[in-house]
Amino acid sequence: MAQENSVTETDAPLAIVIFGVTGDLTHRKLIPAIYSLTVGGKLPKDFHIVGFARREWTDEAMREDFSTGIEESLHPDQPDALVLNKILQNSYYVQSTFEDPVGYAQLCDKLDALKVKNVLFYLATPPEVYPTIVENIRANGINHRKSGWTRIIVEKPYGRDLDSAIELDNTIHQVFEENQIYRIDHYLGKETVQNILVFRFANAIFEPLWNRRYVDHIQINVAETVGVGTRAGYYDTSGVIRDMFQNHLLQLVTLTAMEAPVNFNADAVRDEKVKVLKALRPIREMEAITHTFRAQYVSGVIEGVRVPGYKEEEGVPANSITETMLAVRLCVDNWRWAGVPFYVRSSKRMPKRKTEIIIRFRQAPLSLFNWVNLAGDAPNTLILNLQPNEGIRLEFGAKAPGPAREVSPVIMEFDYDETFGSDPPEAYQRLLLDSIQGDATLFTRQDEVRGQWAFTTDILKGWEANPVTNLPVYEAGTWGPPGLDEFIQKNGFSWR
Ligand SMILES: NC(=O)c1ccc[n+]([C@@H]2O[C@H](COP(=O)([O-])OP(=O)(O)OC[C@H]3O[C@@H](n4cnc5c(N)ncnc54)[C@H](OP(=O)(O)O)[C@@H]3O)[C@@H](O)[C@H]2O)c1
Repeated sequence: MAQENSVTETDAPLAIVIFGVTGDLTHRKLIPAIYSLTVGGKLPKDFHIVGFARREWTDEAMREDFSTGIEESLHPDQPDALVLNKILQNSYYVQSTFEDPVGYAQLCDKLDALKVKNVLFYLATPPEVYPTIVENIRANGINHRKSGWTRIIVEKPYGRDLDSAIELDNTIHQVFEENQIYRIDHYLGKETVQNILVFRFANAIFEPLWNRRYVDHIQINVAETVGVGTRAGYYDTSGVIRDMFQNHLLQLVTLTAMEAPVNFNADAVRDEKVKVLKALRPIREMEAITHTFRAQYVSGVIEGVRVPGYKEEEGVPANSITETMLAVRLCVDNWRWAGVPFYVRSSKRMPKRKTEIIIRFRQAPLSLFNWVNLAGDAPNTLILNLQPNEGIRLEFGAKAPGPAREVSPVIMEFDYDETFGSDPPEAYQRLLLDSIQGDATLFTRQDEVRGQWAFTTDILKGWEANPVTNLPVYEAGTWGPPGLDEFIQKNGFSWR
């Protein structure tokens, strides 16, 4: 078994080895993030990128692609020429399939020639090839270094269900120790997602209210305007449940529901998140039908443009029953949350892109004002906006001015951009830097990913045991079919 060396200094010579360097993720996210980190002086001075992929590229071709990726990400601004040149000159390409041992021999030669101390592997590849790559890393003895550390970042999806996630874990664990493995959920790299914890645990005023005594129910909504685009092949075998629910939505649930950790170390935080996953009441058999709602988009209009329906997207079978909308009713069976339902949903082709966590507080114990109440029965709502405008909003009732006997809804709002004056950094910047600094707080631990999959796999099994031949449909550019409202209304709640 590999041992991680305890060297944590970040200034030692470093190589980031990107498997799948010719792909979309590298071009759009990783290279721009590396550029921004370099501009900010966050990476070691002696730093290299070694790209590995199948395409017949040369060092030059890869550098050109990096340059375009950086320019596109900064548009209309121009990159800093010195920084850009430094990155390009320190970037090298290994052209090989992931199956060919010759490619790994070339990679080893390159790492030797560069004399780097620390190595960060990044699996920016289809998940099917993760085992092949880690096995070849082991075969070449580059899963640890004589002095310095070796770490590996694994992209999502991490498995397709509980069994495959365990199998993948077992394979990777034959080569890397758990403290070398950084499983990405890029949601955790978002500033506002981290802000959930700061908001909850750096302030004393909300935490006393953050429980079943004061909270009526919680909604988490991730709405996307995009369809499946060019990812139909992948998407049709995944749906919302694997693409969003198992990872991002459950992350938001655990961050919202967790207890205060004993400190802010990676393991302390993740211990608390795992406890929430353990407290989730399983959704099994017929409950997979009654506690979830699925639907699929048909053609419609978004921002004035007609878009195709899901089944018209290239690569989607005509009889597909893959959901592009999913709502789930969750119960967290612990002392804090007993009896407080969590309604979580995620959908494609919505009228607006937004991600928000909505804490709906109970109504006042007694209605003293027999007035017109425009604020409704439960006027106190706290909304954590995660995207696109990051911020926090508190809604409450106030007396309308003048003689009218009226309670009006009013808001107090914090806007991230307005307050701090700039957009928060991209998630990948933070995550790359944390992995280089050896901070795994924002990465998913083995037991966490298993907890997520255990819960999700029960739902998948319930769907399989109670098959449907088609799903309710909603027009692209609308907030969903009537069934979505009925799903929450049958328990006396309504979507915000
Ligand atoms: N793109 C995103 O925004 C995004 C977001 C979140 C997560 N992810 C995850 O990140 C990973 C990469 O996604 P992507 O969108 O970048 O995929 P992609 O565009 O399809 O890129 C895949 C990369 O893997 C290489 N590759 C595949 N099979 C190979 C083989 N047998 N031998 C050598 N190279 C091989 C490809 O090389 P060639 O093209 O040269 O053949 C390419 O560089 C996936 O796991 C995905 O789920 C992506």
